[in-house]
Amino acid sequence: MKNANEKVYRKSVRKIAQGRAIYSFDKIIGKSKNFVSIIEYAKKISDSTSTVLITGESGTGKEVFAQAIHNASSRRDKVFIAVNCGAIPSNLIESELLGYEEGAFTGAKKGGNAGKFEMAHGGTIFLDEIGEMSLETQVRLLRVIEEGVVSRVGGSKQIPVDVRIIAATNKDLQEEVNKGSFRKDLFYRLNVIPLGLPPLRERKEDIPILVDYYMSRISKKLNKKQFNIDNRVMNKFLEYEWPGNIRELENVIELIVNTEKIPDYILKIHKTSVVGNNKAAESSINFESMKLEDVEKNHIIKVLKSFSGNISLAAKAMGIGRNTLYRKMEKYHIDCSEMEQ
Ligand SMILES: Nc1ncnc2c1ncn2[C@@H]1O[C@H](COP(=O)(O)OP(=O)(O)OP(=O)(O)O)[C@@H](O)[C@H]1O
Ligand SMILES: [Mg+2]
Repeated sequence: MKNANEKVYRKSVRKIAQGRAIYSFDKIIGKSKNFVSIIEYAKKISDSTSTVLITGESGTGKEVFAQAIHNASSRRDKVFIAVNCGAIPSNLIESELLGYEEGAFTGAKKGGNAGKFEMAHGGTIFLDEIGEMSLETQVRLLRVIEEGVVSRVGGSKQIPVDVRIIAATNKDLQEEVNKGSFRKDLFYRLNVIPLGLPPLRERKEDIPILVDYYMSRISKKLNKKQFNIDNRVMNKFLEYEWPGNIRELENVIELIVNTEKIPDYILKIHKTSVVGNNKAAESSINFESMKLEDVEKNHIIKVLKSFSGNISLAAKAMGIGRNTLYRKMEKYHIDCSEMEQ
């Protein structure tokens, strides 16, 4: 009996944990002028029902901001439901978002199931990777936004929902609209309050405090000693471009705490044209290698080499998943078998 109770209790705790936002603005790190004004702007728009569209490269803190906005709003005691639109197969996303009635499809639960919008009633729904949503689902979402009601898949009842929508993407949605892969009407409905997060390379002043913060946090978590980052290494950190942004920085610090060594690809950075307004340096840009894809390919090769072809470590250092790295290696025909020791 006790076990059964415990099970129920655990289940409910898990449920509560899933519906909670943990980040608040006071936990967001950054002192650079531009970033501070973004935080101020985000605080100002927190307590509203208007839709927010957060854009920014991978690892810039889109989810962190979405949670902080919810926690600064009067909905803070209600649920925060996050849905990764890119991770749910397209044939399941509608029933995931809108729910379904009993018998809607084979395998449908008895009594049907509530969707994320119904679950988020009174609170906030975070629609992550909105740029991955199919055009068909976009139509459904538009209807929910415009009419404030959902009807479950296989049902006809209209269920009113009061939900604040925060969407996020690392794509340029305007460009997706131009290409015809994102609906213009939905884009305007979502982009009522635009919130653009800068990549780390555009707020380099924040790198030292982020390094300190993660060094102390990670060494505590792993029960290991802090690694001293001297000025020479900090300069390399400032020169490095951080394509995986804060997530990459966090992973690099974790790697350093574990290995007590700075990864080679960061130590070997040479100051190039990109930083500051150094005219002489700017003119030294090599026009043959300006294509972003070439830069990405070369960077991947460099990082893989510095980890002797170890894909897990290289992916971690770049702040991307192993599968993403595999995909990119396939795309660029990178063979790491010769890099192995
Ligand atoms: N300003 C910040 N201060 C401290 N930590 C941050 C900040 N911004 C982001 N982080 C940390 O960086 C990591 C990535 O943040 P987050 O998941 O919000 O990025 P994202 O923009 O959603 O990335 P993706 O597009 O890949 O999903 C998290 O571990 C988060 O804790
Ligand atoms: Mg995210």
